Amino acid sequence: MPAIKDKNSNEWYFSSDEYILSETDEHGMILYANNLFCEIAGYKIEELIGEPHNIVRHLDMPKIAFKGLWKDIRSKGFWTGVVKNKRKDDGFYWVHSTVLRRIQTNGKITYLSVRVVPDRATVNACISLYSELKSKE
Ligand SMILES: Cc1cc2nc3c(=O)[nH]c(=O)nc-3n(C[C@H](O)[C@H](O)[C@H](O)COP(=O)(O)O)c2cc1C
Repeated sequence: MPAIKDKNSNEWYFSSDEYILSETDEHGMILYANNLFCEIAGYKIEELIGEPHNIVRHLDMPKIAFKGLWKDIRSKGFWTGVVKNKRKDDGFYWVHSTVLRRIQTNGKITYLSVRVVPDRATVNACISLYSELKSKE
């Protein structure tokens, strides 16, 4: 199913039967993104490969969320959280993201992020929490 825009807002949705996937190098530069990533973020694949993952960063996201993400994936090898992402246009989409560290056979570290549809009550709780955290930045 394609990504769908809400009729009354700039929010985009995807199906709970699908997932948004991306992989980065150890510095967060995009190595791979699946079709749904490209579609919901509004980019062509060639516009994403080699770019930093903050290309989809939404200004409503508090800095501390990504500080925690990087700390956890480097120390524990995984992180999970709810993220509001920005599209190439003015749109946005919410995801429940799990980021995993992978050690390739050549010893190189990459990070893989799998994103599924978040629970709506959790999104609503994050809207309040992130806005409070942003106001303290
Ligand atoms: C595998 C992986 C996936 C990531 N996915 C996202 C994402 O979907 N949205 C996002 O804003 N940042 C994501 N990040 C974090 C970004 O690399 C970056 O730290 C964040 O956007 C904050 O940007 P800034 O460091 O320029 O403030 C991801 C990082 C990794 C390693």
